[in-house]
Amino acid sequence: MKITIIGTGYVGLVSGACFADVGNTVLCLDVDSRKIDMLNAGEIPIHEPGLDKLVATNAAAGRILFTTDYDRAVAHADVIFIAVGTPPDEDGSADLRHILSAARSIGQRITRPIVVVDKSTVPVGTADQVRAAISEELQKRNATTSFTVVSNPEFLKEGAAIEDFMRPDRIVVGSDDPEATRIMRQLYAPFSRNHDKLIHMDVRSAELTKYAANAMLATRISFMNELANLAEALGADIEAVRMGIGSDPRIGPHFLYAGMGYGGSCFPKDVKALLKTSVDHGRTLHLLTAIEKVNEAQKSVLFDKITGHFGGVDALRGKTLALWGLSFKPNTDDMREAPSLVLIGKLIAAGCKVRAYDPVATSEARRLLLQENGEEACGRYLTLCDSAADAVSGADALALVTEWKEFRAPDFEQLAASLAGKAIFDGRNLYDPALVAAAGIAYHGIGRRGHN
Ligand code: UGA
Repeated sequence: MKITIIGTGYVGLVSGACFADVGNTVLCLDVDSRKIDMLNAGEIPIHEPGLDKLVATNAAAGRILFTTDYDRAVAHADVIFIAVGTPPDEDGSADLRHILSAARSIGQRITRPIVVVDKSTVPVGTADQVRAAISEELQKRNATTSFTVVSNPEFLKEGAAIEDFMRPDRIVVGSDDPEATRIMRQLYAPFSRNHDKLIHMDVRSAELTKYAANAMLATRISFMNELANLAEALGADIEAVRMGIGSDPRIGPHFLYAGMGYGGSCFPKDVKALLKTSVDHGRTLHLLTAIEKVNEAQKSVLFDKITGHFGGVDALRGKTLALWGLSFKPNTDDMREAPSLVLIGKLIAAGCKVRAYDPVATSEARRLLLQENGEEACGRYLTLCDSAADAVSGADALALVTEWKEFRAPDFEQLAASLAGKAIFDGRNLYDPALVAAAGIAYHGIGRRGHN
């Protein structure tokens, strides 16, 4: 099939590469010519494991192409996916400017029947707005070309995006038109071979499903974070509790990890957008309001533990803290809403020197930290290091912020020798407290028994 994908961010690029890999001809459009130049030169603008190879193979076979030219992009396609960003507006609602501009660009150009697919995460009712925008543009030029708008939300996770797309748990298709549904089934058949993964529903339910999934996952995380803080007060261990409840098949083991609060480009934005949608429709989502509040507070928990250990905020002045991990989660350079930004901001404000290391996110982190804390404060208090060992050298304590694989099994004896202050603040409960303590290092986890 001939597919056009508008938007070459995570979702657009991964979807495009995966559709190309199963034999479709995919033309990816972006209005950002820098991105398209990079892609045409064989460079990938984002860090996603395996994506560079997948794009290169399919580009060499002529199955994935890149353009900034809307005329070419619309003329190419039987199916057009809209996968542009929906950043949060100031009031938390999703900003649909890019979506509607893409819809208009399509409406200005279609000359044969097509299916337009909303793949971006968009509030309920957006498909109606997309349909109206395309119709308006058709009317302006007295055209009567038929088209259908379908909702097909994406559930891939950064860092595991290709695997998630190639082997999905489910493919949600919201469509009120049988022919469009048939085309979507055909398109997704290669990813749905052994079991039928495609769940067909009406458009609005599909749009709500995407928010419901992310809100449910955020709920589990905030619930466990709140419970971890209670476990500390009770002398219980959240890791034991996690295993104890996760083995119940009705609960399941996933997304029960207490930590530093959820970050990234999706959960924080989607929780806010769903809250705004509920307010707009005269409903109050009490649970979701609390989930967001708990998450905001959780981003400060490690800082509170650090100040507690050193005897107050004033005692942090002149201390040096090593930080392992900056990205919001492993296997990505994405720093959006990363808990590390909150922690570093607070440490710098307290006059604490920070030596941070991340396997891939350093340059993105530098840009954001400079933006948030200013050049002077960063120059004075922040050093971005080239290795995990370099970061800890001479530091008063270590904070583990992102659970990258290379941080999983450090040599604690060696760490004890490097760390002047001999304390670890484990924001992801990655380490065995007994092993750390055996090396003579004080251990502070999130909700760990006797180690907080
Ligand atoms: C999330 C969803 O998992 C995807 O299904 C969805 O498609 C995507 O949002 C989206 O809407 O585009 P992502 O943001 O890439 O994916 O990352 P996750 O792996 O879900 O992690 C989100 C945050 O939750 C991270 O900060 C992570 O550290 C945190 N987390 C996750 C926890 O604190 N505890 C857990 O048990 C799991």
